[in-house]
Amino acid sequence: MSLPHRTSRDITFRGFFIQKWTTVHPLLTSVHQDESQWEKPASFHPQHFLDRDGKFVKPDAFMPFSAGRRVCLGESLARMELFIFFVTLLQHFHFRPPAGVQEDRLDLTSCVGFTLGPAQHRLRAISRLTD
Ligand code: HEM
Repeated sequence: MSLPHRTSRDITFRGFFIQKWTTVHPLLTSVHQDESQWEKPASFHPQHFLDRDGKFVKPDAFMPFSAGRRVCLGESLARMELFIFFVTLLQHFHFRPPAGVQEDRLDLTSCVGFTLGPAQHRLRAISRLTD
């Protein structure tokens, strides 16, 4: 979900009349799980973000920070933090499923909430210093 907003005037949006002071809850899932935009809209599928040559692409339909005038103010900070955290972790550790669990047996179904997060998993962080 995005954050709720209230309309400041009567408005007709895509044929729907919305009265002034109506609280609107934008659903980002309507874009992030849009079958016309994604090859596998209901799956964790990193290939959505790669072109044919394996290079990173950002699809227009990826908008976790929402869009428009009230887009997240912390977007650039959040992107920087996520990049630094993940790169640092991946530089220092290999992440593997617990002993006895095959990678393709991991359940990647997300947990529905205000945001769509991953389910809890136990995993092994193996130091790369021993490589
Ligand atoms: C991965 C991290 C984050 C995500 C996915 C995220 C996502 C969002 C979303 C979807 C909105 C609603 C936009 C709208 O109303 O249309 C929002 C608003 C906002 N976010 Fe973030 N956010 C993140 C991190 C941050 C951080 C780190 C900060 C500040 C340091 C921040 C500050 C704000 C503020 C101030 C708003 C309200 C903007 C407004 O109403 O004008 N966010 N964020």
